[in-house]
Amino acid sequence: MSIRRLPEQLVNRIAAGEVVERPASALKELIENAIDAGAARIVVRLAGGGIDWIEVIDDGCGMAPADMALALERHATSKLPDEAIEQVTTLGFRGEALPSIASVSRLTLESRVHGADGWRRVVDNGGLESEGPAALPPGTRVRVERLFERVPARRKFLRTPRAEYAACLDVVKRLAMARADIAFNVEHDGRRVLSVASGETRPERVAALTDKALADNSVAVDLEREGVVLGGVASLPTFNRGVADHQYLFVNGRPVKDRLLTGAVRGAYAELLARDRHAVVALFLDLPVEAVDVNVHPAKTEVRFREPALVRGMIVSGLRRALDTGGFRSVQRPTEAAMAMWTNDINSSPSGERLGWGSADNAPEGSGVPNPSFQPHLHDRHCTFFAPPPQARAEPASAPPPKGGDFPLGVARGQIAKTYIVAEAEDGLVIVDQHAAHERLVLERMRAGLAGQGVASQALLLPEVVELDEPACDRLESRLSELAELGLDLERFGSKAMLVRAVPAPLGQSDVTGLVADLADELSAYDETLSLKERIDHVAATMACHGSVRAGRILSITEMNALLREMEVTPHSGQCNHGRPTWVKLAKGDMERLFGRR
Ligand SMILES: Nc1ncnc2c1ncn2[C@@H]1O[C@H](COP(=O)(O)OP(=O)(O)O)[C@@H](O)[C@H]1O
Ligand SMILES: [Mg+2]
Repeated sequence: MSIRRLPEQLVNRIAAGEVVERPASALKELIENAIDAGAARIVVRLAGGGIDWIEVIDDGCGMAPADMALALERHATSKLPDEAIEQVTTLGFRGEALPSIASVSRLTLESRVHGADGWRRVVDNGGLESEGPAALPPGTRVRVERLFERVPARRKFLRTPRAEYAACLDVVKRLAMARADIAFNVEHDGRRVLSVASGETRPERVAALTDKALADNSVAVDLEREGVVLGGVASLPTFNRGVADHQYLFVNGRPVKDRLLTGAVRGAYAELLARDRHAVVALFLDLPVEAVDVNVHPAKTEVRFREPALVRGMIVSGLRRALDTGGFRSVQRPTEAAMAMWTNDINSSPSGERLGWGSADNAPEGSGVPNPSFQPHLHDRHCTFFAPPPQARAEPASAPPPKGGDFPLGVARGQIAKTYIVAEAEDGLVIVDQHAAHERLVLERMRAGLAGQGVASQALLLPEVVELDEPACDRLESRLSELAELGLDLERFGSKAMLVRAVPAPLGQSDVTGLVADLADELSAYDETLSLKERIDHVAATMACHGSVRAGRILSITEMNALLREMEVTPHSGQCNHGRPTWVKLAKGDMERLFGRR
């Protein structure tokens, strides 16, 4: 086989395979060019998710007609200072984007520099179609029509216009967050979908693009070390989300998706968040250009640090410090020795002894033997928490101590910090985390419902309107029937809201808004080809979390006992949905040891 040079057009198409994966990646390149051109205002118009139409208009420096021809040639760039790629401070530097996009679409480039006339160049799938004068204000306007129309192999891999639109919006958001000094306007199919003014502060811009509530639920990050500056905002641990999509990271003004950085964020929140919950952060890392290599990824979304450990350490300590000064104190961990005295194994106490709660003399027969009746009774699983407990005794605290062995988790005596149920068991003191435990029970009820005829739903007295962004509503809308099987009755309500008519019955009174927002996140986190059934544990767990008794709710003794009894007959009730224990026990022998009685 003889070797030959590939024709330019083919080379461009090959490059397009790397640079232009989907409409959002073309859009990203065009907006980056507008930013590099010094634009103060950028307008984006999309149609059909960007597949049919992408237009980016800027008021930047513009190009003279000769430069426009060059710009559409491969490896032509105005941005590399003295051929030193290490010194690049612009978002672009490879000179590949425009020719690549033009090789797989119909691209119209119009531009005008101050004090000169405008010019237009139209390239259709790599070939020059026409050129001539154009009337436009100073700046540049690029239009990309019918992306991949002549490249069916690539077009096939595009998702629905809705999904492509969501990806486009994400691209704009990230770039708009990086540059609070630039105004951005986005239209999709003729409707205004995003608008941010110039001159916002960084926190204002971040809140405007993520969640307005973030402003009140975040702390400022600000740390400088060895010429590296870290700034941004970080949510309080309690303001968390079900997916990590709401973490925005920027290196020298460039949005990146870097595993080192996301790992560092996770590390910083490690003890503050459950493993499946994620903080909302926007972090801006600025470091000397020679300390980072931006030329490692075709779409420039990854970077390589010269000193990764320094960067990682800065993010962890920057975030931790910010969270500390933000008036938030993390939980004090008890010492390991103290912890070891507590057990959550129903059948053992560390001391290996079980004594009656009263005096050893009146300990009932067989009190040290594991209770054989403490096995999951499947037929009992549907007893509801707030129904009167079937066998509760000891309603008044002065009631005689219950006979040992009746209730492995004991009889409720009271509540501590409105969060923990304290119960007296025959062989020790039991403490139950009411939220963690109830969350687990709700999940198991949902699972049981699904295994049967589907989860029953409970209509809301007044349907609730939940406002979300458009892609989130789209995701929910595409899953309506599956969500209905889970007992959640939703309806689209305009472009940016959902109407909730009924919630899964096992959830009881729940935080409907939080539930629906989290589900929308949850849905974006997985492949569209998977059915909800295949992801049921996650979705049901998300629901269970919202349907559970909160920490901080005062419970009656009756309610507490009902919870304990349901736990005793529910499988897996010893651990919550995040893998933490739902209850612990201090055996009587150990308690005596703690007090030096033995
Ligand atoms: N919106 C714009 N305004 C001014 N000049 C532009 C614009 N878009 C592209 N250019 C010019 O075209 C050149 C090629 O653009 P591109 O193919 O994206 O490569 P790169 O951005 O890597 O240089 C740029 O270097 C720049 O000089
Ligand atoms: Mg570029």
